[in-house]
Amino acid sequence: MRTRPLKVALLGCGVVGTEVARIMTTHADDLAARIGAPVELAGVAVRRPSKVREGIDPSLITSDATALVKRGDIDVVVEVIGGIEPARTLITTAFEHGAGVVSANKALLAEDGSALHAAAEKYGRDLYYEAAVAGAIPLVRPLRESLAGDKVNRVLGIVNGTTNFILDKMDTSGAGYSEALDEATALGYAEADPTADVEGFDAAAKAAILAGIAFHTRVKIGEVHREGITEVTAADIASARRMGCTVKLLAICERAADGRSVTARVHPAMIPLSHPLASVREAYNAVFVEAEAAGQLMFYGPGAGGSPTASAVLGDLVAVCRNIVGATTGPGESAYTRLPVSPMGDVVTRYHISLDVADKPGVLAQVATVFAEQDVSIDTVRQQSRNSGSGDEVGIEQSGGGRRVGGSGEASLVVVTHRAPDAALSGTVEALRKLDTVRGVASIMRVEGE
Ligand code: NDP
Ligand code: HSE
Repeated sequence: MRTRPLKVALLGCGVVGTEVARIMTTHADDLAARIGAPVELAGVAVRRPSKVREGIDPSLITSDATALVKRGDIDVVVEVIGGIEPARTLITTAFEHGAGVVSANKALLAEDGSALHAAAEKYGRDLYYEAAVAGAIPLVRPLRESLAGDKVNRVLGIVNGTTNFILDKMDTSGAGYSEALDEATALGYAEADPTADVEGFDAAAKAAILAGIAFHTRVKIGEVHREGITEVTAADIASARRMGCTVKLLAICERAADGRSVTARVHPAMIPLSHPLASVREAYNAVFVEAEAAGQLMFYGPGAGGSPTASAVLGDLVAVCRNIVGATTGPGESAYTRLPVSPMGDVVTRYHISLDVADKPGVLAQVATVFAEQDVSIDTVRQQSRNSGSGDEVGIEQSGGGRRVGGSGEASLVVVTHRAPDAALSGTVEALRKLDTVRGVASIMRVEGE
């Protein structure tokens, strides 16, 4: 056992940082035994130094994060501030001054991961970021290391705890969107600005990181197709239920069949209740990885929150410290395939479309013609008359076969398509909007997992 302690600078002491400091203190002996050297919390940088922080020696607190990372005696910097700046400059400065870095900052890694990896390599230091994707779930290291000998073709899953918590509450307890978001925020799941969660930016950042590692390429957050959950209504969730489905915010990263490009997307989708992702509740995350030799792997666990995230940070801290003791470094960036990222229009998927239409003869034929013109095949159509009062269905119009139209006034038409390119599906919706008999497109959602 080496006696000189490894010194750790903690940047940020909020939801995650507080738990990192607590575990470092309470498990100090075990961590030392596992690393082969004691680990010492040498400084804690925060924005508001006068705030009382239970369990933290006040003499360690500073508001000058830059001075802390420049000290020269720091072995590892743990960045849990979040956001792009000052986190990016602090991490780069840490490398320049000889420290390895552990970060939970998916926004920064998705924006500028390659530059950070390059800086780590230049100064011969480690950059680890398990906590940046899916909270406590070991996912980055399995993709970076355990599956480094296999060929990953697809990564699909729920990677944002806040939105899964909101959708789950709306679905299972009938909670309102705002009420569920407030609860997720109080529980420490949401980002400092929860827009990052509900508009899909956080999941898109994670998708960019996952796609980059899985396909050994570079994917920036701006190349990820992104839709959040702010437009998902209680009616969408009820409609999904009627189809034996639930609504989840999914991140899907795929290698094209010809292997020459990749896609990465984040959007709400209906998935069958029988699919394993349908039973992922509250702030849990779950990710499927499909690899050529391994087949299908599933990773599941708490996707957000201080303590689960700190577990992932501590795992990285131990790894970086072990590397320092062993005078080595872990894996750097692997982006040799340089695969281009294809646009969303190339993705092949299914749509669930709810239309408000005039309830009169010929409407269904008009709607079906639009789908046929765009080469989109219809799987099922359900019509619900607005005049029936009870809201009962008045006709199951088509399931590959015959058609019936009845009633007058307004009706709601729910169309589920077979798989088609996303460009054709959005072209169909655009053309439907132009029909006089289509009063409105109430909702459009992709259907996945069948
Ligand atoms: P918090 O907002 O709870 O904490 C942020 C911390 O950073 C606070 O201690 C804050 O200081 C400090 N800080 C902010 N700006 C500065 C600055 N300029 N200089 C020094 N310190 C600063 O965030 P979280 O702990 O929730 O998240 C931290 C990181 O972990 C983010 O990147 C987030 O995306 C990521 N993450 C979070 C998860 C979660 O469940 N919360 C899960 C996985 C990853 P002060 O306390 O004085 O305000
Ligand atoms: N806000 C993020 C989430 C934290 O809800 O998933 C974990 O990355």
